Amino acid sequence: MLIRLTYASRVKDSLGPADVKDIVRASKRNNARLGITGTLLLVDGIFLQCLEGGLLPVNTLYHRILLDPRHQQPALLNFAEIDRRLFGGWHMGLVPATADNLALLMAYSPSAQFDPYAMRPRALDALLEELVSRARVLSE
Ligand SMILES: Cc1cc2nc3c(=O)[nH]c(=O)nc-3n(C[C@H](O)[C@H](O)[C@H](O)COP(=O)(O)O)c2cc1C
Repeated sequence: MLIRLTYASRVKDSLGPADVKDIVRASKRNNARLGITGTLLLVDGIFLQCLEGGLLPVNTLYHRILLDPRHQQPALLNFAEIDRRLFGGWHMGLVPATADNLALLMAYSPSAQFDPYAMRPRALDALLEELVSRARVLSE
Protein backbone atom coordinates (compact mmCIF):
# COMPACT_ATOMS: atom_id res chain seq x y z
CA MET A 1 0.00 0.00 0.00
CA LEU A 2 1.35 3.40 -1.01
CA ILE A 3 0.98 6.14 1.58
CA ARG A 4 1.91 9.77 2.13
CA LEU A 5 2.88 10.98 5.59
CA THR A 6 3.30 14.67 6.36
CA TYR A 7 4.56 16.04 9.67
CA ALA A 8 5.97 19.25 11.14
CA SER A 9 8.59 19.77 13.82
CA ARG A 10 10.62 22.63 15.30
CA VAL A 11 14.38 22.89 15.03
CA LYS A 12 16.49 22.76 18.16
CA ASP A 13 18.29 26.07 18.79
CA SER A 14 21.60 24.34 18.16
CA LEU A 15 20.70 23.41 14.56
CA GLY A 16 23.15 24.85 12.03
CA PRO A 17 23.67 24.70 8.25
CA ALA A 18 25.97 21.67 8.65
CA ASP A 19 23.11 19.76 10.32
CA VAL A 20 20.75 20.54 7.46
CA LYS A 21 23.36 19.36 4.95
CA ASP A 22 23.83 16.19 6.96
CA ILE A 23 20.07 15.51 7.02
CA VAL A 24 19.77 15.96 3.25
CA ARG A 25 22.85 13.78 2.68
CA ALA A 26 21.45 10.99 4.89
CA SER A 27 18.10 11.25 3.11
CA LYS A 28 19.66 10.84 -0.30
CA ARG A 29 21.75 7.94 0.99
CA ASN A 30 18.81 6.05 2.48
CA ASN A 31 15.56 7.06 0.83
CA ALA A 32 16.22 5.75 -2.68
CA ARG A 33 17.07 2.32 -1.26
CA LEU A 34 13.86 2.37 0.82
CA GLY A 35 11.72 3.45 -2.14
CA ILE A 36 10.86 6.67 -0.32
CA THR A 37 10.29 9.97 -2.07
CA GLY A 38 9.21 13.32 -0.70
CA THR A 39 10.29 16.78 0.23
CA LEU A 40 11.62 18.78 3.15
CA LEU A 41 11.03 22.44 3.91
CA LEU A 42 12.72 24.51 6.58
CA VAL A 43 11.13 27.90 7.18
CA ASP A 44 11.25 30.09 10.30
CA GLY A 45 12.68 27.26 12.39
CA ILE A 46 9.96 24.80 11.36
CA PHE A 47 10.49 21.62 9.36
CA LEU A 48 7.69 20.38 7.13
CA GLN A 49 8.41 16.98 5.62
CA CYS A 50 6.42 14.74 3.34
CA LEU A 51 7.38 11.06 3.03
CA GLU A 52 5.86 8.83 0.32
CA GLY A 53 6.33 5.12 -0.10
CA GLY A 54 5.25 1.76 1.24
CA LEU A 55 3.39 1.67 4.56
CA LEU A 56 6.16 -0.09 6.50
CA PRO A 57 9.21 1.74 5.08
CA VAL A 58 7.55 5.13 5.65
CA ASN A 59 6.52 4.20 9.20
CA THR A 60 9.95 2.85 10.04
CA LEU A 61 11.70 5.95 8.69
CA TYR A 62 9.27 8.31 10.41
CA HIS A 63 9.90 6.67 13.77
CA ARG A 64 13.66 6.91 13.21
CA ILE A 65 13.36 10.61 12.32
CA LEU A 66 11.30 11.23 15.49
CA LEU A 67 14.29 10.08 17.56
CA ASP A 68 16.60 12.61 15.90
CA PRO A 69 17.84 15.12 18.53
CA ARG A 70 18.06 17.94 15.97
CA HIS A 71 14.35 18.68 16.15
CA GLN A 72 11.49 18.68 18.65
CA GLN A 73 7.70 18.95 19.02
CA PRO A 74 6.91 16.71 16.06
CA ALA A 75 3.26 16.57 15.00
CA LEU A 76 1.77 14.16 12.48
CA LEU A 77 -0.36 16.32 10.18
CA ASN A 78 -1.54 13.90 7.51
CA PHE A 79 -1.29 10.17 6.88
CA ALA A 80 -3.23 8.76 3.95
CA GLU A 81 -3.27 6.08 1.31
CA ILE A 82 -2.48 7.52 -2.13
CA ASP A 83 -2.76 6.17 -5.67
CA ARG A 84 0.24 8.01 -7.02
CA ARG A 85 3.33 9.75 -5.70
CA LEU A 86 3.57 13.53 -5.92
CA PHE A 87 7.37 13.53 -5.59
CA GLY A 88 8.09 10.68 -8.01
CA GLY A 89 11.71 11.62 -8.74
CA TRP A 90 12.62 13.22 -5.41
CA HIS A 91 14.43 11.09 -2.88
CA MET A 92 14.38 14.17 -0.64
CA GLY A 93 14.86 17.62 -2.07
CA LEU A 94 15.16 20.54 0.33
CA VAL A 95 12.86 23.34 -0.81
CA PRO A 96 14.81 26.59 -0.64
CA ALA A 97 13.27 29.58 1.15
CA THR A 98 13.08 31.76 -1.98
CA ALA A 99 10.74 34.75 -2.09
CA ASP A 100 8.46 32.81 -4.47
CA ASN A 101 8.25 29.80 -2.19
CA LEU A 102 7.69 31.92 0.92
CA ALA A 103 4.84 33.73 -0.83
CA LEU A 104 3.33 30.34 -1.70
CA LEU A 105 3.58 29.13 1.91
CA MET A 106 1.95 32.30 3.18
CA ALA A 107 -0.89 31.88 0.69
CA TYR A 108 -1.78 28.60 2.45
CA SER A 109 -1.10 29.80 6.00
CA PRO A 110 -4.01 30.68 8.27
CA SER A 111 -1.87 33.15 10.26
CA ALA A 112 0.75 35.80 9.49
CA GLN A 113 3.53 33.29 10.22
CA PHE A 114 4.18 30.06 8.34
CA ASP A 115 2.43 27.61 10.65
CA PRO A 116 1.96 24.12 9.20
CA TYR A 117 0.74 22.93 12.62
CA ALA A 118 -2.42 24.94 11.98
CA MET A 119 -2.98 23.66 8.44
CA ARG A 120 -5.67 21.19 7.43
CA PRO A 121 -4.64 18.01 5.58
CA ARG A 122 -6.39 19.16 2.40
CA ALA A 123 -4.53 22.48 2.38
CA LEU A 124 -1.24 20.66 3.03
CA ASP A 125 -1.81 18.42 0.01
CA ALA A 126 -2.69 21.43 -2.13
CA LEU A 127 0.47 23.20 -0.98
CA LEU A 128 2.62 20.14 -1.76
CA GLU A 129 1.04 19.81 -5.20
CA GLU A 130 1.76 23.43 -5.95
CA LEU A 131 5.36 23.04 -4.82
CA VAL A 132 5.80 20.11 -7.19
CA SER A 133 4.33 22.07 -10.07
CA ARG A 134 7.23 24.50 -9.49
CA ALA A 135 9.70 21.62 -9.41
CA ARG A 136 12.41 23.59 -11.16
CA VAL A 137 12.99 25.58 -7.95
CA LEU A 138 13.46 22.53 -5.77
CA SER A 139 17.14 22.03 -5.03
CA GLU A 140 18.90 18.73 -5.41
C1 LIG B 1 13.62 16.94 9.98
C2 LIG B 1 14.44 15.71 9.65
C3 LIG B 1 14.18 15.00 8.49
C4 LIG B 1 14.90 13.85 8.18
N1 LIG B 1 14.60 13.16 7.04
C5 LIG B 1 15.29 12.02 6.76
C6 LIG B 1 14.96 11.24 5.62
O1 LIG B 1 14.06 11.55 4.83
N2 LIG B 1 15.69 10.11 5.40
C7 LIG B 1 16.71 9.70 6.22
O2 LIG B 1 17.31 8.66 5.97
N3 LIG B 1 17.02 10.42 7.31
C8 LIG B 1 16.35 11.57 7.60
N4 LIG B 1 16.69 12.30 8.71
C9 LIG B 1 17.88 11.88 9.49
C10 LIG B 1 17.58 10.73 10.42
O3 LIG B 1 17.01 11.21 11.61
C11 LIG B 1 18.87 9.95 10.74
O4 LIG B 1 19.85 10.83 11.26
C12 LIG B 1 19.44 9.28 9.50
O5 LIG B 1 18.44 8.55 8.83
C13 LIG B 1 20.59 8.33 9.86
O6 LIG B 1 21.09 7.81 8.68
P1 LIG B 1 22.35 6.84 8.67
O7 LIG B 1 21.98 5.66 9.54
O8 LIG B 1 22.51 6.47 7.22
O9 LIG B 1 23.51 7.63 9.20
C14 LIG B 1 15.95 13.43 9.05
C15 LIG B 1 16.21 14.16 10.22
C16 LIG B 1 15.47 15.29 10.51
C17 LIG B 1 15.77 16.06 11.78
